Amino acid sequence: MISQNDVMRKNLKMVHGYPMVYAFAHNWERIERFRSRPDDIVIATYPKSGTTWISEILDMVLNGGDVEKCKRAVITAKVAMLEMAVPGIRMSGLEQLEKNPSPRIVKTHLPIDLLPKTFWENNCKMIYLARNAKDVAVSYYHFALMNNLQPFPGTWEEYLEKFMAGNVSYGSWFNHVKSWWNKKEEHPILFLYYEDMKENPKEEIKKVARFLEKDLNDEILDRIIHHTSFEAMKDNPLLNYTHLPNAVLDHSKSPFMRKGIIGDWKNYFTVAQNEKFDALYKKEMSGTTLRFCTEI
Ligand code: A3P
Repeated sequence: MISQNDVMRKNLKMVHGYPMVYAFAHNWERIERFRSRPDDIVIATYPKSGTTWISEILDMVLNGGDVEKCKRAVITAKVAMLEMAVPGIRMSGLEQLEKNPSPRIVKTHLPIDLLPKTFWENNCKMIYLARNAKDVAVSYYHFALMNNLQPFPGTWEEYLEKFMAGNVSYGSWFNHVKSWWNKKEEHPILFLYYEDMKENPKEEIKKVARFLEKDLNDEILDRIIHHTSFEAMKDNPLLNYTHLPNAVLDHSKSPFMRKGIIGDWKNYFTVAQNEKFDALYKKEMSGTTLRFCTEI
């Protein structure tokens, strides 16, 4: 039996060519054997792109904006993470998914290649939320400081190098966003941006509602916006990840709900780092129609 201590601060483990959180990489066949249901709704993101935010929005949309219903459980139970498995944490993502009633919301950070085929075969609806790479890098660095399932990030400078090389869990941000963007040509994927959600949450929530064929009036939309604002989520113990053991997520190092803004990268990137990043970005993103905004 492996214990929680055995998976803390371990190096990433390769799974089919992608660096994976050590704890999750264990017995990968369990993910490949997973059976989806046709009405499963998948939330896919590169880590730190606003997954928790879109998860709560989706739960609220499905529950017609009923705040009380959305308080039925913590976010990790309502929106189970497919690949999550940590010794000592009550239930793995797969066990939680087996328990959850349909329509289930399935959260994952998996790149296209690692997502079990069952989701494509069942033509499951998917929402992909993307966030600009620079803010993701800063957020991921702080997450690695507080999340003991991640390897130690080192200094910001060291971490940024690893991020640019795709040597972080789930691999390259560039590969992730580009392959999900392309996949939407052949599959029902609603592709959203964190920055649009910040700038005009009502329009983006309406897109989610339309995608799920839900008719929500203005009053409900306003309630969802209020309940899922950064300030409200930061103070909500069902959503702010303080329910997980301190040994796993140490909020004294950096809170999970950290800043929730666009452009925090400017407080971390030096001029030289920014130039190097921009050059890589240009190279990696040259062939794609994907466009991100990095400031407002
Ligand atoms: P920062 O570290 O930049 O603050 P994920 O849920 O994918 O792990 O993403 C976490 C990031 O989303 C964190 O970014 C977090 O603060 C931000 N976030 C969480 N809830 C949010 C909300 N309601 N509005 C805006 N940002 C939010």
